[in-house]
Amino acid sequence: MSLLRKKSLEHLMEQAADTDKGLKRTLSAWSLVALGIGAIIGAGLFVRTAAAAGGHAGAAVTLSFIIAAIGCAFAGLCYAEFASMIPIAGSAYTYAYTTMGELVAWIIGWALILEYALGAATVSIAWSEYFNRLLGGAIPYEWTHSPFQKAILSDGVLHHGIFNAPALLIVLILTLLLIRGTQQSAWVNAVIVFIKVAIVLIFIAIGWQFIDPDNHTPYMIPADQPPAKLADGTEHSYAPTFNHGFAGVLRGAAIVFFAFIGFDAVSTAAQEAKNPKRDMPIGILGSLVVCTILYILFSYVLTGVAPFTEFMLAGKEASVAYAIQNHMPGYDWLATAVTVAILAGFSSVILVMLLGQSRVFYSMSHDGLLPGAFSSLHKRFRTPFKSNWILFLFVGGLATLLPGDITGDLTSIGTLFAFVLVCVGVWIMRVRQPAVPRPFRVPLVPVVSSLGVLVCGAMIISLDKVTQLTALAWMAIGLVIYFAYSRSRSKHKGPADILPRAKHFE
Ligand code: ALA
Repeated sequence: MSLLRKKSLEHLMEQAADTDKGLKRTLSAWSLVALGIGAIIGAGLFVRTAAAAGGHAGAAVTLSFIIAAIGCAFAGLCYAEFASMIPIAGSAYTYAYTTMGELVAWIIGWALILEYALGAATVSIAWSEYFNRLLGGAIPYEWTHSPFQKAILSDGVLHHGIFNAPALLIVLILTLLLIRGTQQSAWVNAVIVFIKVAIVLIFIAIGWQFIDPDNHTPYMIPADQPPAKLADGTEHSYAPTFNHGFAGVLRGAAIVFFAFIGFDAVSTAAQEAKNPKRDMPIGILGSLVVCTILYILFSYVLTGVAPFTEFMLAGKEASVAYAIQNHMPGYDWLATAVTVAILAGFSSVILVMLLGQSRVFYSMSHDGLLPGAFSSLHKRFRTPFKSNWILFLFVGGLATLLPGDITGDLTSIGTLFAFVLVCVGVWIMRVRQPAVPRPFRVPLVPVVSSLGVLVCGAMIISLDKVTQLTALAWMAIGLVIYFAYSRSRSKHKGPADILPRAKHFE
């Protein structure tokens, strides 16, 4: 039964008391909402929205945001229950280890690599797009694109990407900051949240006057929509099921789901919340609600200002700056201001994701499931510097060599899968461990948790075959590593069912 062995909650709490002595309960519900918004608004909104609208959902990308938000809300409630049950700093990996056992924890930890590491790569690629736009396209196409991308530029020549240098640069800078032990202070986070929300609101307010109702008609893409021209001279057909109509809206939801990733960061702050029982659900759901409203208004304006088909061609990259420059005459200053603000906002998201990934690696290594290098600390800076360098190679390599569409969709699918497991987990725990105290309880289990599985599962199914198969291959590699390496090296040799028998709960 070693696959089901768990960490006891008491052991976990002792560990937390040891290592986190300094953590004070200082965060109010409002600071938790701000923390969530800081981690959430990023490339999902400023890049993936255009990809979802252009290829699949059209102006109805607003509905895609609603579907993605519903999936997140159900999963978010389940996260909140776990976070209140195990109120220590942790991630879905830690919750699963305590409640569902080592194998499930490993699977979730492995899926979280798709969320954090590929997510960081996607935002770095987006950073590169906006950075080069700020420089007026000074860096040649070849050095800002992956070898899998090509485009016919204004010179009429077909250019091939070689390597995305700015994406590598930003990962390097942030890795160095992380190794120095720079964690974003609450103050910096507050400023960045303010800037991000401000640009979204300004874009909505100014862009509203430039909405052309024709761009919103028909709202969903019709099945007979003529194909869109692509930068490499080929065409994108709208005929396939998930490229038009409601199914297209669903695929759009899976793509813009990326824009919500990060709200689970709130659950990692459970130990610092003043009143976790009340504040955790407010923090998680509050940041979701604020972002959903902003996203719907923002995407309504973006698709109203520019026809969705343009987001497949010239407007594919740095789409917000493109829309302003090409469809909002007299507002070039806004395009520049928005670009600078977006670059700052992206940097903070990448930092949070790299930090989150190194924390998950740290826990997995601490448990013996990954090599010790992932938890060895720098003598002076006390940061997991080896892990940071390995991550730099991994994330930097992906950001340099892959297109953002591929990394973005893989991030979505990995996170959706982790959400499905968390939703299932809450139900399993209610049946198997009804007596464990839960300061916050998801209402109407198993209805809410099953709806979470359903909505997140539908988004997984709507993604393309290549993304699904790549994710499957990734999970298979994870299982091979678990059975060949991690299982025998695990530091937890205890019995399978520690949690129900722990005196703590009797
Ligand atoms: N939600 C984050 C973003 O959109 C990951 O960049």
